[in-house]
Amino acid sequence: MPPWISLDASSGVPYYRQLYEGLRRAILSGMLPAGTRLPSTRALAAELGVSRTTVVAAFDGLLAEGYLEGKVGSGTYVAASLPEELLSVREKVDRGPRPAGSGRRLSGRGALLAQTPTTVARGAGSPRAFRPGVPALDEFPHAAWRRISGKVWRRPPGGLLGYGDPAGYWPLREAISGYLGSARAVRCVPEQVIVVSGSQQALDLAARVLLDPGDAVWVEDPGYIGARGALSAAGARLVPVPVDGEGLTVAAGIEREPGARLACVTPSHQYPLGVTMSLGRRLELLGWADRSGAWVIEDDYDSEYRYTGRPLEALQGLDTGERVLYVGTFSKVLFPALRLGYLVVPADLAEAFGAARELADRHPPTVDEAILADFIAEGHFLRHLRRMRALYAGRQRALVEEAARELPGLLDVSPTAAGMHLVGWLPEGVDDREASRRAAALGVEAPPVSLYGGEPGGRGGLMLGYAAVGEVGIRAGVRRLATALRGLQV
Ligand SMILES: Cc1ncc(COP(=O)(O)O)c(C=O)c1O
Repeated sequence: MPPWISLDASSGVPYYRQLYEGLRRAILSGMLPAGTRLPSTRALAAELGVSRTTVVAAFDGLLAEGYLEGKVGSGTYVAASLPEELLSVREKVDRGPRPAGSGRRLSGRGALLAQTPTTVARGAGSPRAFRPGVPALDEFPHAAWRRISGKVWRRPPGGLLGYGDPAGYWPLREAISGYLGSARAVRCVPEQVIVVSGSQQALDLAARVLLDPGDAVWVEDPGYIGARGALSAAGARLVPVPVDGEGLTVAAGIEREPGARLACVTPSHQYPLGVTMSLGRRLELLGWADRSGAWVIEDDYDSEYRYTGRPLEALQGLDTGERVLYVGTFSKVLFPALRLGYLVVPADLAEAFGAARELADRHPPTVDEAILADFIAEGHFLRHLRRMRALYAGRQRALVEEAARELPGLLDVSPTAAGMHLVGWLPEGVDDREASRRAAALGVEAPPVSLYGGEPGGRGGLMLGYAAVGEVGIRAGVRRLATALRGLQV
């Protein structure tokens, strides 16, 4: 029976009237949105076990009152625009006051989740200059993906469509482990790799498995909002630790909170500043973690993109004390909607993480994992990565060149050796939130650096992603940004 109808034989109200009321309520509450096609009177009568005349009588009443529209030969629909007086009824249906003490209180954990900021001001719709964190979606080799997908679906290997391993599809875990060993000097075996639905789930799982409410955690300041959210939603007490030209200042962390349980860092390409953590700092961080028995989360979200020099090895590869959890994602190399990433955990934690994953959402989508495993095995992954590296290097050059022409005195834009975004620094005293608002008014996306924390009153900057749009769009974006910034007063 459709969820919007319940017919009660004992109520004494005729069926046609009950059906009429049920449909009307469903329309007013939005459960049946404008334009929804209703089942035919014959089908609905059969489904409800009533006569067709009953259904026709209910539909006739609603058609006469403007709730429904009939289109000859193509069925009955919820009216595209409801009359004003009906909408005011809807208002009451939706927002009626709740009786006090009606048991609708959230749990402490729920309240914490509801209060936690969840998204960076990320634009929606087609990417525009300079949306950070989004790759060149139009360059994705969808023909190869489609072919592999067709192959997987033609004869799905045994077990692919049933319940899978909470830690992920074995051939994909093998492929990830092989890739991380050779490209990132991560030391692991496939048993340590847990496939997750993007880094966000890795951060959430790590926070819940490793932290108790009230535990102190070092976070980079400024730092990634997604990580802060996952940690604070698990009840952690965040301890912001300043970032300088060598990355997280470990000495400041030790001074502020030597007994923190965990540190969350982006050593390859600090988010948002873009700094690479020096070897000295890496050793200092690992030394502290070893001595104090703390964990380190290494969020290696865009380390695949390095344009000059040798790719830096992961912090995890230097870790002799098994304190590091390594997090990576396919969101930046393939596309974010794929929702696949990985977490590499010390071997003795693998079982606990597998259990946590199973309780959260059982396991990743196995068919997509199988497609991705073949995509990697057939060489498409590395080929795409190489192409994107060259493409983004060119896009970054275009951004820096155009900025040198259009933005002197307005925004200081220097090249960077890694990643998919850079930070343009505003003149001292210019408010980056105001600058970002003005840019947005001209259709340019450039989130303010202060959104991510940092010293109050510190120098303002704008995040400029350069991966998502082509050079023509980048150059046009720089010119619009110049117009926006010219109007700013110091
Ligand atoms: C620092 C950082 N980590 C991780 C991610 C990726 O998140 P996910 O893998 O959940 O898409 C992003 C995306 O913007 C990021 O900026």
